[in-house]
Amino acid sequence: MLYRTFGKTGERVSLLGFGAMRLPTAGGKVDEAESIRMIRHAIDSGVNYVDTAYMYHDGVSEEVVGKALKDGYREKVFLADKLPPWFAKDESDLPKIFETQLKRLDTDIDMYLVHSIEEGHMGVMKELNTYGYVSGLRDSGKIKRLGFSYHGKTTKFFKEVIDSLDWDFCQIQLNYMDKDIQAGVEGLKYAGGKGIAVVVMEPLKGGKLTGRVPDSIQSLWNGAPVPRTPAEWGLRWVANFPEATTILSGMTTMEQLDENLRILSDAKPDALTPGELALIDEASAEYNELIKYGCTSCAYCLPECPQKIDIPSIIGLNNDTALYDCFEASQFSIQNFVEPKPSACIECKKCEDICPQHLHIADIMKESAELYER
Ligand SMILES: NC(=O)c1ccc[n+]([C@@H]2O[C@H](COP(=O)([O-])OP(=O)(O)OC[C@H]3O[C@@H](n4cnc5c(N)ncnc54)[C@H](OP(=O)(O)O)[C@@H]3O)[C@@H](O)[C@H]2O)c1
Repeated sequence: MLYRTFGKTGERVSLLGFGAMRLPTAGGKVDEAESIRMIRHAIDSGVNYVDTAYMYHDGVSEEVVGKALKDGYREKVFLADKLPPWFAKDESDLPKIFETQLKRLDTDIDMYLVHSIEEGHMGVMKELNTYGYVSGLRDSGKIKRLGFSYHGKTTKFFKEVIDSLDWDFCQIQLNYMDKDIQAGVEGLKYAGGKGIAVVVMEPLKGGKLTGRVPDSIQSLWNGAPVPRTPAEWGLRWVANFPEATTILSGMTTMEQLDENLRILSDAKPDALTPGELALIDEASAEYNELIKYGCTSCAYCLPECPQKIDIPSIIGLNNDTALYDCFEASQFSIQNFVEPKPSACIECKKCEDICPQHLHIADIMKESAELYER
């Protein structure tokens, strides 16, 4: 495993971090035994950064991560967790959330993040004195490092957030398709230039750059001088930036974990050739041309929907239609397997308040109902 310096803190963190948002599941539930096996295998292979959050798998992620870190594993990692201000009704809820997290994890937290800062969350955050609360946690030693994850609309706002507090680190969405949205490469370099560690999330766009790959993109990879899988191209693109301190991937199988361990044990900064970078740029342009919606299947919308609509699956089927020219197959799935149907949407837009990609989900549901339910 390669290690990089965690900004001005000087700590050394593994280039691959374990993201616990997409743990393996069985029968609709987190597969606890397999998750623990994977997390421990990652740590045994040199990973020393594990990332979870209050809301991942409805709280089960924190519990499972806590269990995985028993038996001597806790001391080997930096444990990151996140405070979601939008779950709090008033200021007194913030310590309640923190205490719940400690209880679920059954250990302390090293790296604590304000979860998903974006323009629309600032009002609530200010009302709750969120910065004051998390700064107090660091001052009192209850957490070691303070950071935030970012899903705002602009790089300009990202820079304002960076300059608004003495952060130790930040967490940004970055992959070769999303280099100019949210914080983007410009934000990565801005934070890195200030000695703020940058944790990268969604380096494979939540798996949209792997798995089934459109023919036009696969033929680009097939023409590369070095044979690499789509995951390898995606991870190497991020690792090429020296400012990317650690790269989180939410691996769902041991095979994915082993592949990512291999790739990030060998991905030095500034190692890609101009030809390789040009090839990745071509793939990025092609994906951006083909894909309809920038959903990463993070599933933040699911607990918000009063109608229990499987929003990520419906958006995924829309994207399949665009990427693989398979309207009939998507229509068949929506008509036969998706329940409730997109037409169940009541346009309350609660999902839109939380969507990190700022998608107009109510409009997408309406359009999906018209296109696929008839
Ligand atoms: N703070 C925030 O707001 C926020 C938001 C999002 C994520 N995060 C954190 O960041 C972490 C990383 O984000 P992410 O989970 O979206 O990472 P990601 O690496 O972009 O996506 C993970 C998905 O990529 C696919 N994948 C991973 N390795 C692969 C390989 N070697 N070969 C083929 N496919 C592979 C898998 O998709 P399949 O399962 O489809 O095979 C996997 O579920 C999360 O787990 C979470 O801890 C934080």
